[in-house]
Amino acid sequence: MDEYTLVFLKPSAIERGLVGEIISRFERKGLEIVALKSLYMTREMAEEFYSVHRGKHFFSDLINTVGEKKIVAFILRGRSAISVVRALVGATDPVKASPGTIRGDYGLDITDNLIHASDSPESFVREAKILFPEFELPSEYSD
Ligand code: CMP
Repeated sequence: MDEYTLVFLKPSAIERGLVGEIISRFERKGLEIVALKSLYMTREMAEEFYSVHRGKHFFSDLINTVGEKKIVAFILRGRSAISVVRALVGATDPVKASPGTIRGDYGLDITDNLIHASDSPESFVREAKILFPEFELPSEYSD
């Protein structure tokens, strides 16, 4: 059965003109883009999106990196989409991410690491409700 995942490109990926390059990697892998938009991430949205990290030492830097800025978000569908996308994205710290991954090829900063991808079906549902409130979740995800 196909799985869904959510990805968003952080503001620096947009400022550096990497949107097309990054999206084409997912397309070439065979994942289907089922929703895609450019949107303004408010500070409130960023704080809700990353609420599990509240209290961590990097939280305020993280919110400043993505909040009050434009992001590009999309929902992808495909076989084992969550693990496949996380493999294409690479390790959280771009210094440790393997060459050939998105973070490994384009990043250096651990907080401003270019891209976010859901880490579980539960995260996908929570994150989709924040960034794509209009998206009708497939029946297998509804509670
Ligand atoms: P992301 O995949 O969007 O999920 C949580 C984010 O927190 C992560 O990418 C980084 O941007 C940031 N992050 C996670 N761990 C650290 C860390 N140790 N130091 C700084 N930022 C971090």
